[in-house]
Amino acid sequence: MKHLLKMLDLSKEEIIDILNLADQLKYELKHSIPHPHLKGRSLGMIFQKASTRTRVSFETGMYQLGGHALFLSASDLQIGRGEPVQDTARVLSRYLDGIMIRTYKQEEVENLAEYGSIPVINGLTDFSHPCQVLADLMTIREFKGQFDDLKMCFIGDGNNMANSLIVGCLKAGMSVSAACPEGYRPDPQVLEFAKNYDCFELTDSPIKAAENADVLITDVWASMGQEGEAEKRKIAFKGYQINDEIMAAAKSDAMVQHCLPAHREEEITEKVFEAHANEIFEEAENRLHAQKAVMVKLMA
Ligand code: CP
Ligand code: NVA
Repeated sequence: MKHLLKMLDLSKEEIIDILNLADQLKYELKHSIPHPHLKGRSLGMIFQKASTRTRVSFETGMYQLGGHALFLSASDLQIGRGEPVQDTARVLSRYLDGIMIRTYKQEEVENLAEYGSIPVINGLTDFSHPCQVLADLMTIREFKGQFDDLKMCFIGDGNNMANSLIVGCLKAGMSVSAACPEGYRPDPQVLEFAKNYDCFELTDSPIKAAENADVLITDVWASMGQEGEAEKRKIAFKGYQINDEIMAAAKSDAMVQHCLPAHREEEITEKVFEAHANEIFEEAENRLHAQKAVMVKLMA
């Protein structure tokens, strides 16, 4: 593994390896056992979009590993004035040991990896959010103890989270159902991948998708960059919500995950969110541990 660009690139073994290291790093942190695997290393963090969890967990994680992280807002870099990503990649490769980037186009992240000579980590694009899904898988295994015989159900927009969850959960060994309205389906590349799995189902019925699910996941109806479509999307996604009715269709011990930020009473009710807050905030915490594992794998 040279980069973390999207879940499609990872093998099952690589995913499990990252999760095992993440569990170990979480244990070491809780028991104050130092783990300075990246002493003297620097990570550049390029942000073209807002972030709370990604920025803070990468920066803190790098510090805990003995290294240093630089916050690079794209609007303050020459990238913001049109310097090509290919040139930025070759320059940053001479100063840094790794780059985390959050941007719009997946292509930009792939270009950075191709032209640079250091590991690149995708901190979210419109197509994928692999760091989040590694944290989700870590949390699912923590609460359920395994992946085999589990069903993950995603309800909502076929966005970066849906794309990455479908691939990540299928690779990990889970069954997957996704309920997305017409016109808001997951990316064709993801559906092409998923069609090789008998245990994958795509429907426009949230209730059907939720039947017997062990894990229910949703995400916002309008992602970053889609703010102008928010009103139109409120209409298109009506009913694509994790609520009491959906919980009743799932297994009685089903857990709920949400990458956050959440829009209560849109994709999830306040009641379900608060009843499962423990799982959702453990998931947010696990961003830290899972990303530290990724950085150690790529940069140590
Ligand atoms: N879930 C997630 O990536 O959160 P941020 O946008 O706050 O980084
Ligand atoms: N789908 C959301 C995820 C935020 C973490 C977005 O892209 O804005």
